[in-house]
Amino acid sequence: MHTATARAVLLLLVAGIFPLAVASSGDVALLLDKLKPALQGAVPNAQLATWNASTPLCLWRGLRWSTLSGEPLRCDTAAARANLSLSRDAALLLASIRLPAAALAGRLPPELGAFPALESVYLAANALSGPVPLELGNAPALSTLDLAGNALSGALPPSIWNLCDRLAELRLHGNALSGAIPAPAGPNDTCDRLRLLDLGANRFSGGFPAFLTAFRGLQRLDLGGNRLSGPVPDSLAAMRGLQMLNLSYNNFSGPLPPAFSASAFTEESFLGNGPALCGQPLRQPCVSPSGLSSGGVAGVVIGLMAGIVVAASVCIGWAQGRWRRNRVRRAAEEGGEETEEGDGGEGKLVVFQGGEHLTLEEVLNATGQVVEKASYCTVYKAKLADGGGSIELRLLREGSCRDAASCGPAVRRIGRARHENLVPLRAFYQGRRGEKLLVYDYFPHRTLHDLLHAGGGLESRPALTWPRRHKIALGAARALAYLHEGRHGEAPVVHGNVRSSNVLVDEYFVARVTEYAVVGSRLLVPAAAEAVLAAAKADGYRAPELQSVKRCAPRTDVYAFGILLLEVLMGRKPSCAANAGDDLPSLVKAAVLEEATMEVFDAEVAKGVRSPAEEGLVQALKLAMGCCAPVAAARPSMAEVVRQLEENRPKNSRSALYSPAETRSGAGTPTTAA
Ligand SMILES: *[C@@H]1O[C@H](CO)[C@@H](O)[C@H](O)[C@H]1NC(C)=O
Ligand SMILES: *[C@@H]1O[C@H](CO)[C@@H](O)[C@H](O)[C@H]1NC(C)=O
Ligand SMILES: *[C@@H]1O[C@H](CO)[C@@H](O)[C@H](O)[C@H]1NC(C)=O
Ligand SMILES: *[C@@H]1O[C@H](CO)[C@@H](O)[C@H](O)[C@H]1NC(C)=O
Ligand SMILES: *[C@@H]1O[C@H](CO)[C@@H](O)[C@H](O)[C@H]1NC(C)=O
Repeated sequence: MHTATARAVLLLLVAGIFPLAVASSGDVALLLDKLKPALQGAVPNAQLATWNASTPLCLWRGLRWSTLSGEPLRCDTAAARANLSLSRDAALLLASIRLPAAALAGRLPPELGAFPALESVYLAANALSGPVPLELGNAPALSTLDLAGNALSGALPPSIWNLCDRLAELRLHGNALSGAIPAPAGPNDTCDRLRLLDLGANRFSGGFPAFLTAFRGLQRLDLGGNRLSGPVPDSLAAMRGLQMLNLSYNNFSGPLPPAFSASAFTEESFLGNGPALCGQPLRQPCVSPSGLSSGGVAGVVIGLMAGIVVAASVCIGWAQGRWRRNRVRRAAEEGGEETEEGDGGEGKLVVFQGGEHLTLEEVLNATGQVVEKASYCTVYKAKLADGGGSIELRLLREGSCRDAASCGPAVRRIGRARHENLVPLRAFYQGRRGEKLLVYDYFPHRTLHDLLHAGGGLESRPALTWPRRHKIALGAARALAYLHEGRHGEAPVVHGNVRSSNVLVDEYFVARVTEYAVVGSRLLVPAAAEAVLAAAKADGYRAPELQSVKRCAPRTDVYAFGILLLEVLMGRKPSCAANAGDDLPSLVKAAVLEEATMEVFDAEVAKGVRSPAEEGLVQALKLAMGCCAPVAAARPSMAEVVRQLEENRPKNSRSALYSPAETRSGAGTPTTAA
């Protein structure tokens, strides 16, 4: 009597909502009356057949029992194994059910949640069907539930999280559960003991169950093989204890949290979500929507080849962690002096005139698409969030200036340069780990080199008539003259890597010179700068006296410009000529000696030109040859080059090509082109 009272009280305490009528019948009765028939289904089951009064309790298959005091029922004696009275002992509590692969073909009865001491249920690899009963969430002691590999269907009841007090493992892999993964009722449920959650290979739909990322103890999470969609939240990548993750074969989309690029998870964790899921560790890089629609296959292929680098830039954003906008220290001066943002602890964004609207957060969170990989940097077209337009990012690799002190002056001089024929530098970022980003306005990456040499590869390439080529050359010359001018009593800014691939050309044939002063200044360590120089030599742009970067000077830029001008006139790659043992100037000399001067010009140039002398063509050729004089002192200055090009314009220069509206191209405002 005393025992029965205690038991009733216990049940009231732990499973309060269950009626005493059920409780008083005892676990054995509950097992026989409810659990056995439900699990068995229509077909008698050999394992379940042992659960009967004519068999001693210790021989009932797959069950463990405990006493009221919590002691396990001992079945290790012959007496116990033969005791037929045990099954009539209403004080015994069911502690565990372990019948995996037992050909169970029934359903889970609601009473599964009514065993007050039931700690573990292993019913994997059976043929159980029907729903997971809502009442399972009432099981007061359940810590391990393994129902994997059945045919359970319907929604997962939210009450499952009521088990969180004790739940350590929940395996529902390989069922037919559907609907959204329900959130716990309490907003602060952290399910601290849950180590393993396997909901894989079901039919769950809806968004990523973000509440899971608050489950602090989770080590293994499998959501693979469902129909989940939408973005993967950053908070998932922030889960410290997570050791195994499977989000594969869903319909997730958007960029993966950048932090995954630095995690131990491989692409195995994210496969099969389609192309809309991107970013490290997937090989699918994140590209801006416009890049996909109009940039076409080439952009994507380049992106794929450089996927690692894409992630590296995204990773920078992550490495900085959270940052606070209100730390901005504004030092804005008249005329747009640089402004610094962030502090030493988080990396620093120095913004220049016209870049005041950029924030560290925006720059680091921009999604990038690789447009070019140079020896010392990778160039991205990056899209700012929230319709903020595009920027060009140049991520300097190792081998750039080591610290803020050595980078600062060089970068500031680049940042101050403003000319309509220069791609303006708007900001410079230096991270704590030495990573550096140059932030420029974005202009479509159509280089003079591509225009001249891509041939049929460049679809809808405009005709490059002599007036158009002249306009491009003059624009580039003006930009270099501006850099060489040496304003405010400072030394001239040397470009250092003048070449046709560093001249962008817009649809009005306005030239914009890029990459200026990166090589000539101390932005690169000597070894990296020498590599650029070696490339310049191989490609035919290097002045003969330029044996080391230290000798970069305005006149070495002039030499390179002379080669570029010959390239424009002749339509030939300087590298091809140089590799054949002849540079472009030698080819011209030979042609002049043979009185075949007109033959050096590109056919497209010569086309509409009736009188080469009157159209400025001959003058341009002479000028280019002067620029390529072997002796530096014999070369004209860039200012002189500009003057001569202006003086010898093509005859039809009164055409729309030279209208003021087109030469002034609004380079002073950041582009908002998509
Ligand atoms: C009871 O279990 C034994 C095996 O332990 C089995 O042989 C017998 O058929 C079962 N009786 C019933 C009624 O299921
Ligand atoms: C058999 O089990 C009953 C109920 O727990 C117990 O009272 C009895 O002593 C046991 N008999 C033997 C021989 O162990
Ligand atoms: C949830 O947590 C927050 C902060 O951690 C707390 O302010 C709030 O009261 C909690 N809510 C509940 C229902 O416990
Ligand atoms: C992830 O889940 C999918 C679908 O269930 C499965 O095919 C794949 O093998 C799993 N990957 C890993 C690494 O476990
Ligand atoms: C995946 O999601 C996209 C929308 O994000 C949808 O158009 C597509 O039909 C979904 N695919 C599947 C297989 O559900």
